[in-house]
Amino acid sequence: MPLHSKDKGVNMGSLRDAIVNDERVVIVDHPLVQHKLSILRDEATTTKHFRELVGELAIFEGYEATRDFPLEDIEIKTPLEKCTAKQVEGKKVAIIPILRAGLGMVDGLLQLVPTARVGHVGMYRDPETHEPHEYYCKFPQDIDKRTCLVVDPMLATGGSAILAIERLRKEGVKDIRLLVLVAAPEGIQAVLENDPNVKVYTCSVDTKLSDTAYILPGLGDAGDRIFGTK
Ligand code: PRP
Ligand code: URA
Repeated sequence: MPLHSKDKGVNMGSLRDAIVNDERVVIVDHPLVQHKLSILRDEATTTKHFRELVGELAIFEGYEATRDFPLEDIEIKTPLEKCTAKQVEGKKVAIIPILRAGLGMVDGLLQLVPTARVGHVGMYRDPETHEPHEYYCKFPQDIDKRTCLVVDPMLATGGSAILAIERLRKEGVKDIRLLVLVAAPEGIQAVLENDPNVKVYTCSVDTKLSDTAYILPGLGDAGDRIFGTK
């Protein structure tokens, strides 16, 4: 059960501290990321600009989430001479956006890893219970052999990410990395409690969830802001 800030006895300050210090959580806080995130949060930001920023921030996160990819030596010839150079060692990657909002991060990540396959998990949160409901799922056939980058701008209660990660584990995926732009401490905690072997990348660990399970201060409804709905 995801933890809500309204639950009694939860000290949000110490939960947030614990999350920030957890080695499975990477906070991508480059100055340009923080600058772009502020514009993303601003309610005055247009749909076009919002969409562009989500794509740009996905590239920064992808840069960190692929930092440990192994390299191998190759022999090449520059216009001047032969030399030994590096290339990424046959790593198979799948990008798994959680629909809808995760779609906004796919193109940025494909710029970094153009050979990646893309699987989709369609989910919506029930407006009353905030429980996720799956309506679509399609993965590459060899998904179990791939490093999976699960992408969604928002990690609130964690319910949607948990369901997506469970689907991938059932397919036999071993290496799962969750890339979000804004996370509530409760959501990160829920994801890691449910699956201790996931690594979480976020640009910010925000303060807490609201009574309606929105991230505070957050940025509102990411899907609506990316696609200009509502
Ligand atoms: C949003 C968001 C996440 C989910 C996060 O999607 O993009 O998928 O909520 O909340 P959780 O951590 O509490 O599960 P939403 O269900 O609003 O669907 P949408 O992307 O189609 O707008
Ligand atoms: N989904 C969003 O898009 N935003 C939130 O703050 C929570 C869930």
